Formats: sequence, structure tokens, C-alpha cells
Amino acid sequence: MKLIPLLSILMCWVPVPAVAQTLEAKISIRADAPGATIDPNIYGQFVEHLGRGVYEGIWVGENSAIPNVRGIRSDVVAALRKIRVPLVRWPGGCFAELYHWRDGVGPRDQRPKGINAAWNDEPETNAFGTNEFMDFVEQIGAKPFLAINVTSGSPGEAQAWLQYLTGPEDSAAGRLRASHGRKQPYQIPFIGIGNETWGCGGNMTAEYYSDVYRQYLAVLRPYGTLVVADANSDDYAWTETVLQKALFRHATPTPLAYINRSPQIAMMSIHYYTLAGNDWTNKGAPVGFPEKDWALALERAYKMDEIIAKHSAIIDKYDPERRIGLSIDEWGTWWTAPKDTPSNLYQQNTLRDAVIAGLTLNIFQNHAQRVRMANIAQMVNVLQSMILTRGDKMIVTPTYHVFDLYQVHQGGSLLSAEVASPDYTFENVTLPVISASASRDSKGVIHLSIVNLDPNRAARVVTQVQGVKGRRATGRVLTADSMDARSEFDHPARVAPVALKGIRVNDHSLDVILPAKSVTVIELQP
Ligand code: AHR
Repeated sequence: MKLIPLLSILMCWVPVPAVAQTLEAKISIRADAPGATIDPNIYGQFVEHLGRGVYEGIWVGENSAIPNVRGIRSDVVAALRKIRVPLVRWPGGCFAELYHWRDGVGPRDQRPKGINAAWNDEPETNAFGTNEFMDFVEQIGAKPFLAINVTSGSPGEAQAWLQYLTGPEDSAAGRLRASHGRKQPYQIPFIGIGNETWGCGGNMTAEYYSDVYRQYLAVLRPYGTLVVADANSDDYAWTETVLQKALFRHATPTPLAYINRSPQIAMMSIHYYTLAGNDWTNKGAPVGFPEKDWALALERAYKMDEIIAKHSAIIDKYDPERRIGLSIDEWGTWWTAPKDTPSNLYQQNTLRDAVIAGLTLNIFQNHAQRVRMANIAQMVNVLQSMILTRGDKMIVTPTYHVFDLYQVHQGGSLLSAEVASPDYTFENVTLPVISASASRDSKGVIHLSIVNLDPNRAARVVTQVQGVKGRRATGRVLTADSMDARSEFDHPARVAPVALKGIRVNDHSLDVILPAKSVTVIELQP
């Protein structure tokens, strides 16, 4: 008998890599029935004095070798202008509840040097204060959203701050502002009454906070749109109690114009973060994580939909006409920082963060009737950032690219997008593979954002577009080979969107293949 050489046997046994199966999903869009406007403010950002979020990330000072305009770094401004940031929440976070605005105005060399007790006693120079923040938002073309200190501040201090910002030049507060270099009053469209008042913002009960809110309402109502301090994630009792107690009727009709002009509550708020699971002592690593952490994080991110739906159902009872908006003014990923992290809450941002951002923005858009504002935490060098800096170097993150892709939805009309999707299953986690959201802009162009959250399998997605015949479609897709793919300072464009190839348009249908773990935005011209 002829012996088969060992090598040939081994060659026969080498396992052939399984060709990953392509999944099939369907989306059905009602292009002829435009719904609520997608508020551009849902693409808002959050900046807190924390780590290198402000100092280095935004503020380098006028004498820095890093190119800057009045101390604000120009590379960061240029990148943020490109994604059309609508508004920025500042100065915190927990920091806001310890912040006294007078420390941050006037000649910089005379401002008190303090410590940031909210964040590990980091030094706080107060070099970046009210006018620097307002200069920053004006440079990037955004609007300000101020978080008011209701814990160590007072209604009087908050009122003086708003008078300083908005007072006419010939008022005492306006003259002070002008003496600090700014004659023209600022506009402050959004004013948040406290931050996490159930925690770092005063450890209050919902009942107690409702009275605090009513007190600040009396003082701050003339100045802008007031946002109630957040409910913690799925604390629905908080929302119910605050609505019950903080909304009230005046005993007698009031002649005060501002009371008739602006609502008692313009927005309710929620804070909700994504970890790999639900354990705050073990949030999961930002890079090098197993597929289990991918699944757990996506599962937690998906819960945003339920959280918004349940808070909205409570608000519906008090406000069936939907005058009150919902603001998710802190959201994003929060991983366990490795030991060598260069600054507080700095975290690497990977393709997983981008997929979570796409999924979350789809959820916000699909709740456009109620969700009118959101602020991702945080803009630069902190948590799920748009931008990372290292000295004079700057890179944009995978999450930045998602915000860039999604800006086409800003101000569009929401279209219903029904998804029939297969599931992604890993151990105990089962989730729909496809998340989608669609809008129509003022020129009738349809934009469809689709997330394929399966980390291993591509998906063929066939979309039926009811009511509009598509002529031409183009798309951009963000993906990479690994779940934790990221750009780095020496490889700044490793994760970046590319043109989506092979889109087929046939009258009312659109046929595409979306890679595993990807975020795609398609533009369909009627
Ligand atoms: O974004 C970081 C912190 O998270 C904020 O200061 C606080 O509001 C939240 O707990």
C-alpha cells in the first residue's frame, strides 16, 4: 500500500476559514409622510473642567506655541466647525455644582487659582471662564447651554451671572462685562437648573429638588429656556415626581410678561452612560476587550430606547401636546481607564464607540417628537470624545466621524423607518443586528443611517422607499477590521469613512451590503 505523505494529510486537514454568512434585513421607509423635525441640538456636546477637557483640549493660552485665537486652539476649532456642533453644555457636570462664575471673569492674572474638588483636586487656574467659553462657542459656531450651580451657589449668584451675560451695555452688569472686553450682550438659549441633583448636585430627593427648581424658576425664567436637572438613567419616579411637584398653576392671573412668554419647564433631562454591562466597578476596557464586552456594551446602549420611551410616556401624561422636550444632556461610553491614562477620564475611542454613537443617534432621531437636545460626554480628551490631543497633536476619533456623517439629518423631517432584522446573539445577549433612522431634508433628499452591530457578519439590507422614486444614491461607511480599531497620533486616519460601493437603486428600492460592525449614511436623491 502506498503511504500518503504526512504533509499532504496535514494540508487536507488545515481548516478552511468559514466564509462569514451575509445576513439579510429589510427596511421600509415612508418617504411621503414626514414626521417631527430632528432638532439639530441632539448633536450637542458637553465640556467640563476635568482632566484635559478644557485645559490643553480647548484652552492653551494666548502665549502658547500651539496656534490659537485668543487662547483657544485653532485645530480643535476647525475640526468642530466641520461637524456643525449646535450647542455646548458647560462648565460641568459635577464641577458645575462647585463653580463660582466670578472666579472666571476679569483680568486673567488676577483670577484666583483654585482646586477642582469635583475631580481629584486637579489645579484650576480659572483661565478659562465665562468670556473664554462664550468666545469658544462663537468660534465654533455653536450656542451655549449653561449648567447652574444649585448646590454651593445660590439663586442670587445665578441671577447675577445671567445679568452679567445678557445685560444691556448701560446696565451695571453690562458695564462690568464691557470692562472685561465684551460690550455686546450674549444670548443664552439654554439654562440647566442643577446637575445630577440626586448625587453630586446636592444629594437631593426629587421632592426637595422640585422646590429648588421652583425657586430658580422664579429668578432665571426671564433669561432663557430652563432645563430640569436630570433623572438618573431609568429612575422614572424622579421624572414623575418632579413633573407633579414642579409644574404649578399661579393662584391669580399674572401680568408678568416673561411668565407668559416662557414655559415653567422647557425640558426634562436624563443622564445615561454605556458600560460593558451594568457594573460601575467593572466598566470594561476601552481597547483589547473580548466579544462579550462588545455584546454587553451594545445591549446597554440599546436600552436608551426603552429609557426614552418610558420617560416620554410619563411626560405625555402631564404634557400631551409635547411642548416639553427631553434632553439627554449626558450620554456616551464610560470604560475603566488603564493605569497609565494620561489624564482624568481620558479614554481611547474605537470602532465600538462609533457603533454605539450611531445606534444612539438613531434612537434619538427616532424619538424626535420628544428628544430635542442631547450632549455627548465629553467633547475633547474626556470619555467618548470627538477629539483627542497630545500637546500640539490632535486627532479626531471614530465617534467624530459618526457625528460628521450624521450632520445631514440636522433639521430634517423624521421618516418612519421600520426594520425587519435578524438577531445578533452572544451568550445571553440577543439584539437586532440592524438599527436605522431616516429623514428628508428641505430639498426632498432622503438620508438613511444604518448601523450593522454584528461584529462578524455583513448584512444585505434591502430598503423599500414608499412615496418617492429614487434616482441616485451615494453612501459613506465607517468600519474597520477589529472591534477596537482606532486612530492614533502616529496613524491619525486609520479609522475613517469611505465611499460605500455597490449601492443599487431601483425606483422604490435600495439594495446595499453593509460590512460587519459598521455605521453607514446613504443619501437618496429623488
Ligand atoms: O461626565 C462625567 C461626570 O459624569 C459628570 O461630571 C457627572 O455629571 C456625571 O456623573
